[in-house]
This record gives sequence, C-alpha cells and structure tokens, in this order.
Amino acid sequence: MEHIHPHQHKIVRQDRLRKQGHGSMVIWFTGLSGSGKSTLASALEARLFEEGIRTYILDGDNIRAGLNKGLSFSDEDRKENIRRIGEVAKLFVDAGVVVLSAFISPFASERQLVRETVGAENYFEVFVDTPLEVCEQRDVKGLYEKARRGEIKNFTGIDSPFEAPQAPDLRIETHKLSLEEAVEVLYKNISTRIKKA
Ligand code: PPS
Repeated sequence: MEHIHPHQHKIVRQDRLRKQGHGSMVIWFTGLSGSGKSTLASALEARLFEEGIRTYILDGDNIRAGLNKGLSFSDEDRKENIRRIGEVAKLFVDAGVVVLSAFISPFASERQLVRETVGAENYFEVFVDTPLEVCEQRDVKGLYEKARRGEIKNFTGIDSPFEAPQAPDLRIETHKLSLEEAVEVLYKNISTRIKKA
C-alpha cells in the first residue's frame, strides 16, 4: 500500500500475554443457521470468563448490525462478511483476547482465509455439525419456514450452499450431546492452548 507506513508500537502481543498470564486465539464456530453456534460460544465464554480469561464473542448481533451493516446474503457479501471478521479477529488476537466467533461461514475458501489472516497457530475451527433436519425442526427464528415458502432467498442449506469442513479441529454434534457435555469437550480441547501464554 502506497504511503502507508505501519508504526512499530512499544507494546506487542507477547507483552500483553505475559502480563495477563494467558494466551489469545480464535475459536471459530461454523455451522448452519440454528445449529447452536451462538449457544455454544456463549456457554464456553462464560466458563472461560469465570477463570479470568479475557474473551469476546463476535457474532451477527455485533457485526452484521454494525460494522457489516448493509452486507446481504449473496455469496459475494458472505465472503466479504467473513473476510472483515477475520481482520477484526486478528486485531483481538493481537490485543490478547480469546475470540469466540459464531458465523455460518459457509465457504471453505473464506474459512481458510481467516485461518491465514489470524495465523494457523491461533485458529481453532469447531464444526457445529447439526443436521439440516434438526436445525429446521428447531427453527428458533422461524427462518427455515420462510425460506421453504420462498419468502427468504439464498437461505443456507435450502437454496444457498454450506460447505462442511473436511478437517475441523473439533466437531460437535449438538443433537447428541447436552450443552454441558459439549462445553466440557470444547473446554478440554482448548484450555491448555489458552493457558500457555
Ligand atoms: S454468513 O453466511 O456467515 O455470512 O452468515 P452470518 O453472518 O453468520 O449470518 C447468519 C444469520 O443471519 C440470519 N439470516 C440468514 N442466514 C442464512 N441465510 C440467509 N439467507 C439468512 N438471512 C438471514 C440467520 O438468523 C443467521 O443466524 P444464525 O445465528 O446462524 O441462525
């Protein structure tokens, strides 16, 4: 970029991690609408927060309502949505925070881009593998019904694709585990990584 000269700041990520005593990373939840991404992220955050770990959730409420207001659900806009979120997540990781992100993120290429943006060593992908039938049956927001009626176009799993992760770091089947069990599995998989600053 022409005429852009990054400043070398005095305090860097490693200084923050040393001071706070725990690491930072991105826990990236991906899955269909209604699969349980936000519920899992929220429950895991509560568990980490209680231990004094600095956490932050990125989800539709704080991103699509603000920074990414105006982006649609076309393939192109979903890609831009995830690209920007990857950049935000990178800043949080640098700030020393454990980021829990809950976006459908349907495309393998954009998940890979996030992995590269934040650094593979800082990225932990959780595939919230709840079958479409179960999500549709839950239909918490009534969106599947609308999508089936054709009132919402480009709905993930109905008339817009979801590319299931082929090699996630962890796969959670929410229809087979209680929330407490799922959080336990998640916690076991990430706690040593977070605590090692
Ligand atoms: S994406 O694909 O990653 O850009 O999507 P995301 O930012 O996670 O937004 C998904 C939430 O938006 C609501 N919604 C839709 N989802 C899928 N397809 C269409 N067309 C759509 N329109 C609105 C829906 O409530 C999603 O919320 P979650 O929490 O995933 O159920």
